[in-house]
Amino acid sequence: MTSTKDNLIKKLNNRTATVGILGLGYVGLPLAAAFGEAGFKIIGVDPDERKVESLKKGESYIRDVPTEQIARLVNTGRLTATNDFSALRQADAVSICVPTPLRQTGDPDMSFIMSATNELAKSMHPGMVVVLESTTYPGTTREILLPRLGAERDLIVGVDFFLAFSPERVDPGREDWTTINTPKVIGGITPDCSQVAALWYGQALKTVVPVSTAEAAELSKLLENTFRMINIGLVNELAIMCERLGVDVWEVIDAAATKPFGFMKFTPGPGLGGHCIPIDPLYLSWKMKAYQYTARFIELASDINTNMPRYVVSRVMDALNDQGISLNGAKCLVLGAAYKPDVDDIRESPSLDVIGLLEKKGAQVSYHDPFIPHLHTHDGAQKDSVPNLIAAVREADCVVIVTNHSQYDYPVILESSRLIFDTRNALGKLGKGHPKVVRL
Ligand SMILES: NC(=O)c1ccc[n+]([C@@H]2O[C@H](COP(=O)([O-])OP(=O)(O)OC[C@H]3O[C@@H](n4cnc5c(N)ncnc54)[C@H](O)[C@@H]3O)[C@@H](O)[C@H]2O)c1
Repeated sequence: MTSTKDNLIKKLNNRTATVGILGLGYVGLPLAAAFGEAGFKIIGVDPDERKVESLKKGESYIRDVPTEQIARLVNTGRLTATNDFSALRQADAVSICVPTPLRQTGDPDMSFIMSATNELAKSMHPGMVVVLESTTYPGTTREILLPRLGAERDLIVGVDFFLAFSPERVDPGREDWTTINTPKVIGGITPDCSQVAALWYGQALKTVVPVSTAEAAELSKLLENTFRMINIGLVNELAIMCERLGVDVWEVIDAAATKPFGFMKFTPGPGLGGHCIPIDPLYLSWKMKAYQYTARFIELASDINTNMPRYVVSRVMDALNDQGISLNGAKCLVLGAAYKPDVDDIRESPSLDVIGLLEKKGAQVSYHDPFIPHLHTHDGAQKDSVPNLIAAVREADCVVIVTNHSQYDYPVILESSRLIFDTRNALGKLGKGHPKVVRL
């Protein structure tokens, strides 16, 4: 007699297994497309009606996933989208890709993982494999998913169903490393869980890296993002120290980066943004509090990075002051609202903090971003990207470059401006020593 595991492995190997993706955002949609391309039938489930409607029409809303690809997968019946969670009853293999933000208090907001898990639990049946992709604290898969999907449904993990964690590493906007070719770490609740989940993911993704437990996989993601957050905190503090010392921080970093080993280049900026780096390490520091341990590196780097928008605004104020202009009443144009270059993602963007802080000081703030036509400031007001960039640059007392989008014509912006505060060294050599330019 063949076991539940053998049957599932067979379906995964010959790609007749139906795949469910819970959460069709920046992570879930590229993953759905990857499994669809590998030949699986995909059921995407998302409570967001607009996303579901858009997919039903064969349209993508994620820049990294082309509409032609979604249209092809939808038209061939390989991808269906719905907000009806009961569709998951047909699924053999399910990935959960829901948000993991922070609450106002800075604690993890597990409500999306909880509600997705509770919905999935209603559709659990023997012979399923479930993988959690959302970045979260170590222990989530075992403490939150396992009881709800297993014991409460009378299903034994590693026998009746298989459960694992696999962190998503996608870097939106990046073309060389994609969902398909970025190595994927996977750790199961039991060794059989790791084996089944790795076999499934290996059908669509180039390299799968199995680890021995779900906790190891959860923590590997937090290490990656904490590493970035701490190193960014370090160079941000270096920028602050360099300003006091009268040394060019960009030159120092470029010089250090010529070392062919033992150094990795990070650059300072206006603060952290996006859904990952400012948030994920705080999941770990929160978890460690239950173990009476303070994650000191994380807390320190978070403190430095969180204060960068305030530091930028104080430097803008000084730069204007040097020109005999008060920030109160000055016209400031913020260039770039997205949290990083060449993406349309504004989540946690330091631009919003810079805009809010400049306005608090009485500045008249406008912004331009080719990817973000409208935004809502922290106090809820809507702002529209200025329609004519160069006219706005000419009018501004100070242009503050917050996001260094590559499509900006920096020589023309420099030529047209009166004063530029460059938080990203977007102007490079053009800005160094230029009388109109102040760099972070
Ligand atoms: N965006 C990135 O670059 C990135 C990279 C690596 C890891 N991650 C992690 O992946 C996870 C997802 O991030 P994202 O950027 O895709 O978020 P997202 O907000 O773009 O997408 C999440 C989707 O989940 C849906 N959703 C909310 N509640 C749901 C529920 N109960 N059931 C089903 N769907 C639900 C939302 O409507 C949304 O469409 C997060 O934990 C994030 O930290 C994100």
